[in-house]
Amino acid sequence: MAEKSMSTQENNIVWHQHTVNKETRSKLKKQKPVVLWFTGLSGSGKSTVAGALENVLTELGFHTYLLDGDNVRHGLCKDLSFSEQDRKENIRRVGELCKLMADAGLIVLSAFISPYREERKMVRELLPESDFLEVFVNTPIEVCEQRDPKGLYKKARAGEIKNFTGIDSDYEQPLQPEINLPAGDNEVSVLVDICLTALRQRGVITS
Ligand code: ADX
Repeated sequence: MAEKSMSTQENNIVWHQHTVNKETRSKLKKQKPVVLWFTGLSGSGKSTVAGALENVLTELGFHTYLLDGDNVRHGLCKDLSFSEQDRKENIRRVGELCKLMADAGLIVLSAFISPYREERKMVRELLPESDFLEVFVNTPIEVCEQRDPKGLYKKARAGEIKNFTGIDSDYEQPLQPEINLPAGDNEVSVLVDICLTALRQRGVITS
């Protein structure tokens, strides 16, 4: 597609600065928007921990939105496969969506395998520095495979699923995540507390 490679300038697309902005919307919600980017293997507990954290944040009165890999692939990204190229496009779209949601003043929790460092860095760079927190859901593959909540590891081992992360597709661990969750051998409530402590230390929440 020729248009795809055109810059916005060549395409005659000009940014329109509306008067109601991120600051206005954040103030109304009385919160500092951030993106909590959960990354980890399938079955590591990303969605579970993000969901449990969202429950607590909501009870505390914060405005949140949880973007979940499996769910987003039912709609916005349902045209994408698990090839390296499509995973990159998945994360690019979700990154842009997170940016819009943070711009709306929300605390965004995203739970995607997001296996490549380069793509996670790309999302980080879309946002102001303090607005992006990488949360590594650090569960060893042996534990994920033993849990196998959707039976996908079994299928991948049998060769019924190709490009399965950790089996025949890479997962590049975060090198310096803001939050590192030892999720293989801890209760969800412990992991949620680690996240809450990190959010308090960063002044995202005070309660
Ligand atoms: S990502 O790699 O593009 O970030 P995403 O988080 O959206 O992945 O989707 C991962 C979910 O899709 C997994 O939790 C799993 O349920 C399902 N899935 C289906 N096929 C694969 C595959 N080949 N590799 C990893 N996950 C898969």
